[in-house]
Amino acid sequence: MQFTVNGTPHEVDVEEDMPLLWVLRDELGLKSVKYGCGIAQCGACTVHIDGFATRSCQVPASTLEGAEITTLEGLAPGDTLHAVQEAWIAHQVAQCGYCQSGQMMQAADLLAGTPDPTDEDIDSIMGGNLCRCGTYPRIRAAIHDAAARLREG
Ligand code: FES
Ligand code: FES
Repeated sequence: MQFTVNGTPHEVDVEEDMPLLWVLRDELGLKSVKYGCGIAQCGACTVHIDGFATRSCQVPASTLEGAEITTLEGLAPGDTLHAVQEAWIAHQVAQCGYCQSGQMMQAADLLAGTPDPTDEDIDSIMGGNLCRCGTYPRIRAAIHDAAARLREG
């Protein structure tokens, strides 16, 4: 099957039921995508498919034909950082870091649809991405910061 990952076309030959999570990690070497639960409950494996945050552990390869996939490695072009990544660094959001790729991909999707989110908007979306280290207060602060950075261009 053929699809695009971070702007680069790929053709892979894998089992049709292989989850996108493993296609990205094992076939393409994109290690930002993390395995947490495998049942679409934790958000550690979140990537964008055709612009929308999606839990890659529950997306079979057979559905990917023609898809445009973005991982954290491709959230911003080249060596630049997305405003979400800049804000994450500024607020030192990560603790162990395991959940944070998924958190940033979810946050970028939130801001794409809600450019000036309230605390409630943030909590209702980001609460679905589990963080065992409890970084939610810093996630919230970083999202407000990223929203301001995006507004300023
Ligand atoms: S590993 Fe996909 S949601 Fe947990
Ligand atoms: S930073 Fe450790 S699980 Fe979120």
